[in-house]
Amino acid sequence: MSNNSKIKPIKTRFTILRSFLIRVFSFTFTAQIMCLNLKKPSTYILAIESSCDDTAAAVIKNDRILSNVVATQQIHQQYGGVVPELASRAHQQNIVPVVHQAIHQANIDKKDLSAVAFTRGPGLMGSLLVGTSFAKSLSMGLGIPLIEVNHMQAHILAHFIDEGQNKPSFPFLAMTISGGHTQIVQVNDYFDMQVLGETIDDAVGEAFDKSAKILGLPYPGGPLIDRYAQEGNPKAYPFPKPRVGPLEFSFSGLKTAVLYFVERETNKDPDFIDKNLADICASIQYTIVEYLMDKLKNAVKQTGINRVAIGGGVSANSGIRDALQQAESKYGWKTFIPKFEYCTDNAAMIAMVGSLKYEQGLFTDAEVSAKARYKI
Ligand code: KG4
Ligand code: ZN
Repeated sequence: MSNNSKIKPIKTRFTILRSFLIRVFSFTFTAQIMCLNLKKPSTYILAIESSCDDTAAAVIKNDRILSNVVATQQIHQQYGGVVPELASRAHQQNIVPVVHQAIHQANIDKKDLSAVAFTRGPGLMGSLLVGTSFAKSLSMGLGIPLIEVNHMQAHILAHFIDEGQNKPSFPFLAMTISGGHTQIVQVNDYFDMQVLGETIDDAVGEAFDKSAKILGLPYPGGPLIDRYAQEGNPKAYPFPKPRVGPLEFSFSGLKTAVLYFVERETNKDPDFIDKNLADICASIQYTIVEYLMDKLKNAVKQTGINRVAIGGGVSANSGIRDALQQAESKYGWKTFIPKFEYCTDNAAMIAMVGSLKYEQGLFTDAEVSAKARYKI
């Protein structure tokens, strides 16, 4: 090998140096980006729900729930329905231990919190005031932002809590079915929702609870009707479906029909309810579920949107869950059914909305007050 061949030409040496520098630079750059990602602080939001008779608190880290605590008030059972004054008094007793437990279970300190979210409405004024005042004081005390949440939007946005499931893409239809509301909503974006139709009288949860009361079942009767219905014949007793607009609901007629039917039959046989409880419950549930599905079919037809979600306490009902599941193969819909713990009132759904609003910088003024009637 000649001596000359050991000495590389100047041009080649420059090329080697250049590629070395490029590698060093790109390595440093990648490392910096990785460090930035690692350093991105996590967002912890505490959420408080107190709109009706459940005192609830939850902590969310970004879009993952760390804790979800609910204290359901038992006191109302002996009165056959929610007594507003007793509800707000029970919220006052429950709120500190419930919030404390939520923070403890999340394994964080309250100083780690990035914001406080709370249900501003709709709901019972006295109940809402407890959660609202508590959230305001905590946000002031800790010097962190306050985020107001609409309870009905939260029932819908609970579908975005990240648990590895498929989430609905926009636009989609959401049927909110609870003890206070019955609505079909077109959801164009997280905070762009349009109510297409709602009940003109009672909510569907009330129809379940009032029918249960007529049958002598304790409050809340919805879950009990569901349980007895499992063993009954859904076609044993036909009940009428109320006729209103295609996207409207009405349930007061059904309650009256159940009342007259039970009165008539118990006059003939005083043990009629005891002997036929499962069949009566199955027939009531069948009528309600068919009616809800009719409305959803109308909404899909009218909008051309076939992504359909349900939310609210009644979405825990096995009849509507089954019917919606079957709609996937029957009508080709894509359906979204919440996990049981996110159906009835909970603070995890409030936390989810809190997290979405935090990302968008949608904070609330400290002068905010509770709002019993609060539209989506
Ligand atoms: O959403 P939610 O917890 O409170 C409100 O915002 O109103 O809904 C409560 C309603 C009650 O009427 C209760 O009877 C009903 O949801 N519910 C059910 C079931 N679980 C709860 N109704 C029928 N079947 C169920 N499994
Ligand atoms: Zn609710």
